[in-house]
Amino acid sequence: MTDHDRLTELATRRGFYFPAAGAYGGVAGFYTYGPQGAALKRNVESAWRDRFLTREDHMEVAGPTVMPEPVFEASGHLDGFDDMILECPGCGASHRADHLVEDNTDIEDAEALGTERVAELIAEHDLECPSCGAVLAGESVTAFNLMFGTNIGPGSSAPGYLRPETAQAIFVEFPRLAEYARNQLPFGVGQIGTAYRNEISPRRGLIRVREFTQAELEHFVHPEGAPPDLSGVAETSLSLYPIDSQQARSAEHVETTVGEALEAGVIGSPWIAYYLGIAKEWYEHVGVDMDRFRFRQHLPGERAHYATDCWDAEAELGGNWIEISGFSTRGTYDLSRHADHSGESMTVFEPYEKPQTTERPAVDPDMSYLGPEFGDRAPEVVAALKERAAEEPEAFDGEEIEVTIDGETHAIPMAITGFEIREETISGEHVTPEVIEPSFGVDRVFATVFEHAFRRDSVEGEERTYLSLPPELAPTFVGVFPLMDKDGMGERAKEIADALRERGFAVEYDDSGSIGRRYRRQDEIGTPLCLTVDYESVEGDGSVTLRDRDSAAQSRVPAGEDLDRLLEALADLRAGRQTVAAIKEELGLETVAGDEDPIDAGAE
Ligand code: ATP
Ligand code: GLY
Repeated sequence: MTDHDRLTELATRRGFYFPAAGAYGGVAGFYTYGPQGAALKRNVESAWRDRFLTREDHMEVAGPTVMPEPVFEASGHLDGFDDMILECPGCGASHRADHLVEDNTDIEDAEALGTERVAELIAEHDLECPSCGAVLAGESVTAFNLMFGTNIGPGSSAPGYLRPETAQAIFVEFPRLAEYARNQLPFGVGQIGTAYRNEISPRRGLIRVREFTQAELEHFVHPEGAPPDLSGVAETSLSLYPIDSQQARSAEHVETTVGEALEAGVIGSPWIAYYLGIAKEWYEHVGVDMDRFRFRQHLPGERAHYATDCWDAEAELGGNWIEISGFSTRGTYDLSRHADHSGESMTVFEPYEKPQTTERPAVDPDMSYLGPEFGDRAPEVVAALKERAAEEPEAFDGEEIEVTIDGETHAIPMAITGFEIREETISGEHVTPEVIEPSFGVDRVFATVFEHAFRRDSVEGEERTYLSLPPELAPTFVGVFPLMDKDGMGERAKEIADALRERGFAVEYDDSGSIGRRYRRQDEIGTPLCLTVDYESVEGDGSVTLRDRDSAAQSRVPAGEDLDRLLEALADLRAGRQTVAAIKEELGLETVAGDEDPIDAGAE
């Protein structure tokens, strides 16, 4: 059994995640999170919200997941949100053509090469259908739009789509959101929610699914505004895989810092550098193994239709580098497109420090002359006069001014144009903000944290499997066990479990099977700590056993104040402010046993 198989088995057996609708044979690309998984996913989302929204002082919104077609016409998804599909002539299976190339050659990013080149590569490498072995050379590679379509209301007059990214639900609401931000740039709006993509071949468990959760931040900045304050992240180390290294086919990463990478021009935008810095720290904080993590720059042909520079955070999962989040400079693309398509203003008004006075050429033609002279074409003459005044004010210095309408030139008496240079006072300007977007896939963070936390060791001569999850993410925070459910031990353990639950901790009370087995069960779901109530707790000095997941070390926590202090310290542990070792030191708790020598084992 490989570690990957062990993880998949653990995920199902212990209630992390499993294929959805199994009773009906399942459907590829949809998963259900079980009780532990739903809690772990929620904790990932909370940790993201805390770091990227609360601590950055950004707003959070929750938009609909179905939106009308015009939204996606404007966003470009209707025309450009495609993957390369190839249908097998033998069995009819659909494949991602670029993935066929990547899986069977040393080409890392076939998507950037385009459909024609990918079709050529499939022929050159004599690739076969992974499902039935049929020869694929000569089969056409075409573009397949990934959006799920639907009809809004009865009939088909109002087509809609399930959103393929949460971002659009933010862009379309920009005018109102800018008001909430008091029209002051920069400001950020985030959203954690479901996105849908009709992936051609969902695979690798949670990594490529058809319904998933994104945590996205759209940071609106002034195009000529001040860069972010980088002082907090300048020294943060980064492992980068830039375009140059990829094109040179070097597997080496550039080990650098945020400050150095920006100075050397490896990262072009200070905003992207800023977010790579805080993202790196966040991933480390939530338990991603930094030896299996890097940021890869998008190759020019790989960028999304809206992006100008883009970096992906990638994690090594099952031996492959997988994108787990993207950091894009979207420029003014989305807001400009929505402004054009909807007619709404997608700008913020930036007042000048002091109002500015400018001179502007203007015309105010006499319609009692133009009307009789030009009839229903008079408005065109007015428009032509305005255009000439704006573009060539110097032409208005003779007796007549010429305008051309539909190829025909007309001389208009200067006296009726009402031409003048007007003084205007302007108090500010309308600015279309640029967008910096960190886009996280929650399911891929989940999959990474889950795989990177997976450990195997040996305790009591038996192989043990455990998830070394950070306490902040662990779906169950404390396991509470009575050694046996008798002689008051069950009651005392329940009291402790209730006291913990009152403090908001996720607690699992377990009184079945040997203590060793109960520890193993908690180890498998990544519970950082267990508290055990034994005879000493109810008949002796009242102390309880505290057992730490990673070391399997056990200590005795004296009753009374010490137990109360432990319960307080757990809040710091849960919030990521404290480690188990530090708490033990603070409370003076000494390791008195391990699982191999469980306290009170003889009493079981
Ligand atoms: P890929 O190249 O792997 O298909 P992508 O480049 O299409 O990913 P983006 O469009 O940048 O991904 O989406 C932003 C984030 O959303 C990704 O970094 C990823 O974490 C997540 N994501 C995208 N597609 C899926 C999917 N099918 N299943 C799970 N998560 C996804
Ligand atoms: N919002 C980035 C993406 O989903 O592609």
